[in-house]
Amino acid sequence: MRYTIAHHNPVTPVIQNLGLMNQYLIHRSIDFGLLHEAKQLQFLDVHLSWLMHKATRFNFVAEIADGKTLLVGEGNLSFVLSLAKMPKISSSQLVATTFETKSNLSQEAATNAKKLQSLGVTVLHGVNATKLATALGSWKFDNIVFQFPHVGSREPVEGRNPNFILVRDFLKSAVRQLQTGGKVLISGVDSPHYHGAFQFDEAAEAAGLKTPVSYPFEPSEFPGYEHTMTNEDENAIDHHRKFRTWVFRH
Ligand SMILES: C[S@@+](CC[C@H](N)C(=O)[O-])C[C@H]1O[C@@H](n2cnc3c(N)ncnc32)[C@H](O)[C@@H]1O
Repeated sequence: MRYTIAHHNPVTPVIQNLGLMNQYLIHRSIDFGLLHEAKQLQFLDVHLSWLMHKATRFNFVAEIADGKTLLVGEGNLSFVLSLAKMPKISSSQLVATTFETKSNLSQEAATNAKKLQSLGVTVLHGVNATKLATALGSWKFDNIVFQFPHVGSREPVEGRNPNFILVRDFLKSAVRQLQTGGKVLISGVDSPHYHGAFQFDEAAEAAGLKTPVSYPFEPSEFPGYEHTMTNEDENAIDHHRKFRTWVFRH
């Protein structure tokens, strides 16, 4: 096993160090001809590897199952609909929003909005993620989620990639709507191009948040989720295989 994964919870550095020491011991045992001992240490390596996997796994659903969750830029609303149908999630704790106004919704989004309302989800339209207080006043949330943010253009803003500006201004706005101890979750493509465009670390710093920690995100774990494209988005989910969720905290 490789023990070079960045550690995101207090247990992982301990497992990481044990793993490295164990690998050193495996090599030394082999050097001294202690093959039986080396084999036993290899079993330990498998256990450590399993522990590392458990400790670094991020359970998106469990993370938002507690408290009130705001979802912004929901496009066709299929992601939040998938969440609302999950037994672990209390739909009355979800507030789903689209950037598009009610009259500009796609047929699919309008249908999903009705389904969500019948499940007890609050649905709002015309909500700008960079100006949340305009729509939400002083309403506070434990979790604020923006799945695959994208402005749908490549036109620079303030001389920067417009998606960086979107994420930076969203984080600044989200900070004001967060409960104490709350968090912001942003999922996106895990690729050097995406990282270069979004600059999540810099956006977090500008919003007064800690450097985000990221975890793999698996869209197929959300039945019915059909990613909505913005004009220039090139359908992020269909054209990529690796995704991550960045978690931002104070
Ligand atoms: C690539 S789509 C992703 C949609 C949806 N979150 C999903 O995962 O399928 C990007 C979304 O960002 C929204 N968006 C762009 N600018 C926004 C803004 N300023 N505030 C809120 N949403 C915005 C677009 O309307 C679009 O629905």
